[in-house]
Amino acid sequence: MAYADLHRRSITDPNGFWMEQAQTIDWITPPSKALFDQKAPLYEWFSDGVVNTCWNALDRHVETGRGDQVAVIHDSPVTDSITKLTYTEMRDQVAALAGAMAAKGVTKGDRVIIYMPMVPEALMAMLACARLGAIHSVVFGGFAAHELAVRIDDAQPKCIIAGSCGIEPGRVVAYKPLLDGAIAEATHKPDFTVILQREALVADLVSGRDYAWTDFVAGATPADCVPVDGAHPAYILYTSGTTGQPKGVIRATGGHLVALQWTMKNIYNVDPGDVFWAASDVGWVVGHSYICYAPLVAGNTTIVFEGKPVGTPDAGTFWRVISEHGVKSFFTAPTAFRAVKREDPKGEYVTKYDLSCLKQVYLAGERADPDTIRWAEDQLNVPVIDHWWQTETGWPMAANPVGVELMPVKLGSPAVAMPGYDIHVLDEGGHPVAAGDLGAIAAKLPLPPGTLPNLWNAEARFRKSYLEQFPGYYATGDAGYMDEDGYVYIMARTDDVINVAGHRLSTGAMEEVLASHPDVAECAVIGISDDLKGQLPLGFLCLNKGADRAAADVVKECVKLVRDQIGPVAAFKLAVVVERLPKTRSGKILRGTMVSIADGKAFKMPATIDDPAILDEITQALQSLGYAQP
Ligand code: COA
Ligand code: AMP
Repeated sequence: MAYADLHRRSITDPNGFWMEQAQTIDWITPPSKALFDQKAPLYEWFSDGVVNTCWNALDRHVETGRGDQVAVIHDSPVTDSITKLTYTEMRDQVAALAGAMAAKGVTKGDRVIIYMPMVPEALMAMLACARLGAIHSVVFGGFAAHELAVRIDDAQPKCIIAGSCGIEPGRVVAYKPLLDGAIAEATHKPDFTVILQREALVADLVSGRDYAWTDFVAGATPADCVPVDGAHPAYILYTSGTTGQPKGVIRATGGHLVALQWTMKNIYNVDPGDVFWAASDVGWVVGHSYICYAPLVAGNTTIVFEGKPVGTPDAGTFWRVISEHGVKSFFTAPTAFRAVKREDPKGEYVTKYDLSCLKQVYLAGERADPDTIRWAEDQLNVPVIDHWWQTETGWPMAANPVGVELMPVKLGSPAVAMPGYDIHVLDEGGHPVAAGDLGAIAAKLPLPPGTLPNLWNAEARFRKSYLEQFPGYYATGDAGYMDEDGYVYIMARTDDVINVAGHRLSTGAMEEVLASHPDVAECAVIGISDDLKGQLPLGFLCLNKGADRAAADVVKECVKLVRDQIGPVAAFKLAVVVERLPKTRSGKILRGTMVSIADGKAFKMPATIDDPAILDEITQALQSLGYAQP
């Protein structure tokens, strides 16, 4: 079936469409239907099916003869090592870890936090939770202790599985002190932790609470797969919202399996046995869906890459990995390609490797600028597919479904709606706008399987954040337009979320940290354009009257405060002290106007501005940092 028919059917006959797809999954009890809409506008999929994710990701492949196929390749330029694990090895190690966890009391529904670098054990920890029906919450290694503590208090984990350290180019990041700090700060205390001791840094363990991974699993009785309902939460993944309290996105088990399985052939164009590589991190949704679950559920070989696009050791790393492991489909973020392009604009490294295995490349996480796409197409000679999705959806909302039909590529657009996504562009009153007109991008409810059914412990916030603005629709938080052929164009966020190097960050969360500095009376953080990272956060600080401090000292302390509280991933390095912030007469800070000034873009003086003269001060402050150039 070609794309248009397939998409139409997914909208007009969701039960029929998704029940057919559900047949690709091994169910213990098959679901009687796909959509459960009794609690609309909250929806569930495959709720009365009984299933286990780990079985579908590992055991079933061993049972059907793929046991000796490599499931996971750990390619780690930072430790100069390559390790391969077959499906049988993965199943056995995951069953042992799950058995050890079960022996310590972890059961179905318990939460487990995972705080690990890019090692295969991170996938084993996720899959061991899935095996037991425990709900994991992976926290990205670039977050600091406080962010980890916030997640511990919200998820209330029985156990935490962590690495002793992560390895960033040029430095070893000790995770264990961050974990200890987070546990000390959090009100909730886990019963125990399991620490993967890495050679680069062996952590001190707290007797009776912390167990070294190898001791923990030694002699464990392997655990069987525990049956769970289709609606059972597979995991919680926290993502940035408007405030410092992150949103705990829930992923339900049945829909997750069905939707991810559908994407591997139809979007990523890989068959069982093919090598698929998403160069992301398990701490992000891309890592959950496309490093861990989808490639394994679909019987592919997945790559866990512990390195960076440049500097580990050079701008040819991506091409080396693709060529060495025979990658057929490769997924990365535009910022990673911009980093490679900056170091190797002519693609001299590309010519050093045989890339004939590579058939297509996928970009997501932020807007893919046409220059970067063109550069990649020229270098690699394969389709470079922009596709658009979010932590909330877990899989692409819009893409070019290469495995169904390669649609014409339109630069600047992540192409067309994927099955079950009925996308509309709405004005402020919730009315559809004409093709080509800007508006808020929303998807008519229900969203397809695999998307968030709710937020952990926060149903009111779920309804308010996503469902109440446009009744009957899910508000994506993105703004943009659709053309007459149904191609979507994502232009900006409608909230305080910014996108730094493909990482989603909350300016509101940074403002909360800055406001806690004793000398800061008021502050605002905006996202300014950056050639490499897409956006960078920049803070404006108004100091308390009588704060007798050098501005440079306060700026330095504020930069450190954000790094300590949120983490290095925030990349908060720019701040400036100003007398006042530009506001409307009702007191709303004019962040959008400040972004335009910083980026040197023309802007209309807001009619409601309280005192236009403040904009001159803001311009001067930004110019002192090298921005706001006409
Ligand atoms: N653990 C600890 N620290 C981490 C970390 C981790 N897992 N990941 C990043 N950090 C640190 C970095 O070391 C850096 O610290 P620094 O301020 O001391 O230099 C900081 O967080 C910012 O990291 P990052 O934004 O990654 O910047 P970078 O300069 O190290 O690298 C890029 C720039 C573009 C190469 C890099 O951001 C990149 O590869 N981005 C792709 C992102 C991606 O794949 N996103 C997934 C969405 S699909
Ligand atoms: P995250 O939840 O971290 O995956 O971030 C999701 C957000 O990243 C989206 O809401 C968009 O704002 C942005 N995003 C992701 N993919 C794209 C894309 N292909 N084009 C433009 N923006 C994107």
